[in-house]
Amino acid sequence: MPDALAGRIWDRLQSLKDAGLERSLRAPSGVDLSSNDYLGLSADPRVTRAMIDAVARGGAGSTGSRLLRGERTAFAEVERKFAAFKGTERALYFSSGYLANLAVLTALAEKDDVIFSDALNHASLIDGVRLSHADYVIFSHSDVASLEPLIAQHSAEKQAFIVTESLFSMDGDIAPLTGYASVCRATGAALIVDEAHAVGVRGRRGSGLLEEAGLDPNSCISINTAGKALGVSGAFVAGPEWAIDYLIQRARPFIFSTAPPPSIASALIASLDIIDQEPERRTRLASRVSRLQQALDAHGLAIPCGPSHIVPVVIGDNTRAVAAADALQAQGFDVRAIRPPSVPAGTSRLRLAVNAMLDDATIDRFAAALANVFRTVLLASPSSMVEG
Ligand SMILES: Cc1ncc(COP(=O)(O)O)c(C=O)c1O
Repeated sequence: MPDALAGRIWDRLQSLKDAGLERSLRAPSGVDLSSNDYLGLSADPRVTRAMIDAVARGGAGSTGSRLLRGERTAFAEVERKFAAFKGTERALYFSSGYLANLAVLTALAEKDDVIFSDALNHASLIDGVRLSHADYVIFSHSDVASLEPLIAQHSAEKQAFIVTESLFSMDGDIAPLTGYASVCRATGAALIVDEAHAVGVRGRRGSGLLEEAGLDPNSCISINTAGKALGVSGAFVAGPEWAIDYLIQRARPFIFSTAPPPSIASALIASLDIIDQEPERRTRLASRVSRLQQALDAHGLAIPCGPSHIVPVVIGDNTRAVAAADALQAQGFDVRAIRPPSVPAGTSRLRLAVNAMLDDATIDRFAAALANVFRTVLLASPSSMVEG
C-alpha cells in the first residue's frame, strides 16, 4: 500500500471526524423509528415463508445475468404483478433502487439532451444524472413554476427530462407531480419519478403518489423501490412498453450484473399480495402519524408531522444531531442522525420514519423522550422547536 495514499486517506478521515461527519455501522436496537419498513412487511411470516420455500425449491443464487442463465419465471411473474399494481404496460426488476436510477438515467438520457433535476433529489438520481452524457440543470426544490422558462432557455429543440422524487426521503414533503405533468405536456419533456418512499404507502391501492395525483403512470417512467414499504429488496422500473424494452437492451446495471436471488422475487409476490389485500396497513400508518403529532403537541414540541410518514427534526449542527440521536438510542428508540451529504450543509437532522407497527403507548413514550432530549442535550442552543 503506498504511504502517500494511506496518508491522504488518513487526512480525509480525520477531516470527516473534525466536521462531525464520521459514520459508524450500528445494528438495529430499540423501537424502530428509522427503518423504511413502513408497513412492517420485512418480517411478515407470509413474506419470509415465500422466500424460504423459494430457496428450498430453486437454490440461493440466480447464477447469471437475466440475459444469460439468470432468468427465472419468478422474475417475470413479479414484474407482471407489479405492472398490474402500478397500472403500467410493463415493469422491470432491478437489484436495487440505486442501480435502477442509474439505469434509467444513463440509458434514456443521451448527449445533447438536458436533464432538469430537483435540488433535493436523492444521491442515486444525482449520480445517474452525472453518469449520463446529458447536460443538466438543478432547479429549486419543487419549483414547478421555474421549469417552463428553464426548459425554454436550456433545451429548446432538445429532449428534456424532469427528474424528481415523489415523496422526498429526507423532508417527507411531496412533489408537485400534476404541475410537472402539465409542463411535460406543454414542452415535450419526459417525466422521471422516483417513488421510493411512496410506493406501497400512498394512493388508494398503495401504488404511490402518481396514483394519488390521478396521473397516468404510463405517461412517465417511475422507479419503485422494493426494499422499503414492500419490505424486501430491489426496485421496479415501471412505465410504457417501449421504455422497458429499451432498458432490457441498454441498461448497463441490468445487463452487466448477476440477477438477484430468485427467492427475492417470490418474497415480493407475497408482499404485493398483502399490500393489495390489507389496505388497513396504510390507514394505520396514517393514524400513527396523527398520533405522533398529538403526542409531540402535548409536549410543546413544534414539529409538524405530515404530509407523510417521514418527519424531519432539523437540528442544524452535525455533532448536536448525533448527540440527540445517541440520547434517544440510549432510551431505547432507534432514531438516526442524518448529516451531509445526505442533506444540505447546516440542516443535519433526526429523520423520524413512522411505521404501521407502532402502538399509541410507544409513540407517547417517544414524544416524552424527544422532549427530554430537547431540554437536556440540546438545551445549550436555544431551539425554536420547544414552545412554552
Ligand atoms: C429516493 C430514493 N431513491 C432511491 C433509493 C435507493 O434505493 P435502494 O435502497 O433500493 O438502492 C433510495 C434509498 O435510500 C431513496 O431514498
